[in-house]
Amino acid sequence: MLKRRHVLSMKDFSREEIDEILETAESLEPYARGKGSDILEGKILALMFFEPSTRTRMSFETAMKRLGGKTINLGSAEASSIAKGESLADTIRVVGGYADAIVIRHPKEGSARLAAEFSPVPVLNAGDGAGHHPTQTLLDLYTIKKESHLDDLSIALVGDLKYGRTVHSLAYALSLYGADIYLVSPPTLRMPEQIIGDLSRMGTRVREVSDLREVIKEVDVLYITRIQRERFPDPVEYNRVARSYSITIRDLEGVKPELRIMHPLPRVDEISPSVDETEHAVYFRQSFYGVPVRMALLKMILED
Ligand code: CP
Repeated sequence: MLKRRHVLSMKDFSREEIDEILETAESLEPYARGKGSDILEGKILALMFFEPSTRTRMSFETAMKRLGGKTINLGSAEASSIAKGESLADTIRVVGGYADAIVIRHPKEGSARLAAEFSPVPVLNAGDGAGHHPTQTLLDLYTIKKESHLDDLSIALVGDLKYGRTVHSLAYALSLYGADIYLVSPPTLRMPEQIIGDLSRMGTRVREVSDLREVIKEVDVLYITRIQRERFPDPVEYNRVARSYSITIRDLEGVKPELRIMHPLPRVDEISPSVDETEHAVYFRQSFYGVPVRMALLKMILED
């Protein structure tokens, strides 16, 4: 079903396709630790990261290696011929001749879709500016399925909903599962109107608030994000909203015992370290789940 397909946006996926990816990830999770497998032996994955990354870059690399494949890495743009003025289109054409698939992260929205137009091999979007981050969403859904429940879910997406690409992708996917979504952000960092309109057209119940206390006791999952400092044109505006949400143990009084707190990470000061030891915190397991989920994607796209 996913064979040789690009992974650019959650808008391109049906619920049935997502369910199959999550089921494949579940079956591969034992291989994500320990000895791994050789089902992608002989395959090569190219990693092209034009923005910083720890989890996405390293979990893709781990996933490919756990499946017996190899990775090649563009390294920093300054160390590549992009520094000599080579275009993204030409770079993609060339790297597509070396690898069986390309993972790309780029600061410009739409860059992964552009890359897919020129690539002879599948392109996986690892984050395009403030646009989308579909593979993060797949691991987020896997986390919700394992640590909470996807059906009848009530979830709060909290923080920078304007520039945060993880919440853009996640909101589209959650609407396929009939979730009730609370959008919690400062007024200047609201979810883009176009996405809210799309969610409403898909029949999703969406409520916007700016005070997390209004909803924290209602929800099954609280998904909090970093304020994306690097996307702000004006540092003064960033400083105005930088510490809008910061969850401490005290904020968790009266929440559902089964509340799960997620964060795509990295965190700055959105969650106090004192929350880490509570049963609510699942964000470090969430980052591990990136390995089996990306293994599932690579297997489904690349296996002969
Ligand atoms: N969640 C996420 O995309 O993390 P990185 O920026 O470290 O890849």
